[in-house]
Amino acid sequence: MTLTRRELLRAAVGAAVAAPVAGCTGRGPVETVPFQRSLWVPPPAKSEMDGQGRRVFDLTVRAGRWEFLAGHPAESWGVNGDHLGPTLRAARGEQVLVNVHNGLDETTTMHWHGMHLPAAADGGPHQPIEPGETWSPGWRIDQPAATLWYHPHLHERTERHVYRGLAGLFIVDDETESALDLPREYGVDDIPIIVADKRFDGDGQLVEGKQGPAGMLGDTVLVNGRIAPYLEVRTERVRLRLLNASTARTYAFALADDRPLTLIGTDGGLLSEPVEVDRVQLSPAERAEVVVSLARGERIVLRSNPPDLGTVPRISHACGGEDAFDLLELRAVAALRPVAPVPPRLVPLPRLDPAEATRDRSFVLLGRTINGRKMDMHRIDEVVTTGTTEIWKVVNAHALPHNLHVHGVQFQVLDLAGAAPPAHLTGWKDTVYLPPKVPMRLVLRFADYADPATPYMFHCHLIFHEDRGMMGQYAVVEPGQHISGHHG
Ligand code: C2O
Ligand code: CU
Ligand code: CU
Repeated sequence: MTLTRRELLRAAVGAAVAAPVAGCTGRGPVETVPFQRSLWVPPPAKSEMDGQGRRVFDLTVRAGRWEFLAGHPAESWGVNGDHLGPTLRAARGEQVLVNVHNGLDETTTMHWHGMHLPAAADGGPHQPIEPGETWSPGWRIDQPAATLWYHPHLHERTERHVYRGLAGLFIVDDETESALDLPREYGVDDIPIIVADKRFDGDGQLVEGKQGPAGMLGDTVLVNGRIAPYLEVRTERVRLRLLNASTARTYAFALADDRPLTLIGTDGGLLSEPVEVDRVQLSPAERAEVVVSLARGERIVLRSNPPDLGTVPRISHACGGEDAFDLLELRAVAALRPVAPVPPRLVPLPRLDPAEATRDRSFVLLGRTINGRKMDMHRIDEVVTTGTTEIWKVVNAHALPHNLHVHGVQFQVLDLAGAAPPAHLTGWKDTVYLPPKVPMRLVLRFADYADPATPYMFHCHLIFHEDRGMMGQYAVVEPGQHISGHHG
């Protein structure tokens, strides 16, 4: 059954909030009507340059209260606030230092998803932050302009931390992107769109732990922590930085009147040229940048159509493959500020050369395992060498949806079932959806950051699967260097 946004709200939220409201006012059930609240834009994170020329950010992870449903403050978690986190921003070449203070009463971590950085700064399960402690990783930004993000990555408990609201964007800038005539005024014509689905109880509190085969599927989708908000648009074009911050759900972003979206970037940066697409499908953790053009005074709804999960109907149904949601209404004002059209060429996108690959590896995802194994913090599954290029053959051998995320690098898709990748998979990626039974080959280059003692992760980013062990570890070593106890 495909429910519209309004039906869902009536079925889930409207009915859910009806009881307490009716109880205290004596009136009938209330309905949460979409597009009544304005879009909340996460604030830019403040930073200061220290004496060593480093850009320093201070983040505090903490519990707070957030009105998912207006008038119903709910318990949630946030970074420097009550829900989600500020947008970090730094330029290629800059040295950054992030002080991450854990103000929760349980252990967490903070992972920089999509960032090329030393494994010890990665914030995976090997870098726990105990309650009351501060962890201060530093690294040099060394990758193209992109929309990256951050979230906890605690061994076996990531889903709950992300679901409660621990997620934010980390935007990387560079000179190539800055030289392009693209919308880039944060919060004005360059808008973060962090999408996550939730469930609420009768008091508007987050409900956790309803697991389907993909993980927790919420019946209500939030954009930047609000249900079906609107955005007043004052420019002819607006750039949306889409992040699927859901733990299990895949979205197929589209405009309600089916006009195309101009896709300009994917996980790790801009494409070589813009592509007009009807929909942008993102599995958990994937990002995309799109530009939407608006006429004066018009209203358009950004929605999610039923995603194509590439699996049998029964499983697709159980994993949200038939669900549709209205997400955000874009409301153009009458006097729109002119904005240049998207340039026909974006950035040079050097192709990693598969002929240079010195090693092939194969990864089979099945059940909650990768290559038949579950995550073991004490086992390094793969060892790669700095300065080398590899081909990773990846297949989802299961009928369930899975995706694959690799830490520490951005990779390229070489082919899918032997065919060249579609335009939206030609750019830098760190997470790819794996349609069941479709073999995919990725090309990865491991440039630097050898550390035989500290692994990076690779895993399914349906976080319920990840938490259940669908993850492995790889270490990067110098040529000739070894890892004690590793065979293979
Ligand atoms: Cu977004 Cu291993 O993480
Ligand atoms: Cu990651
Ligand atoms: Cu999975």
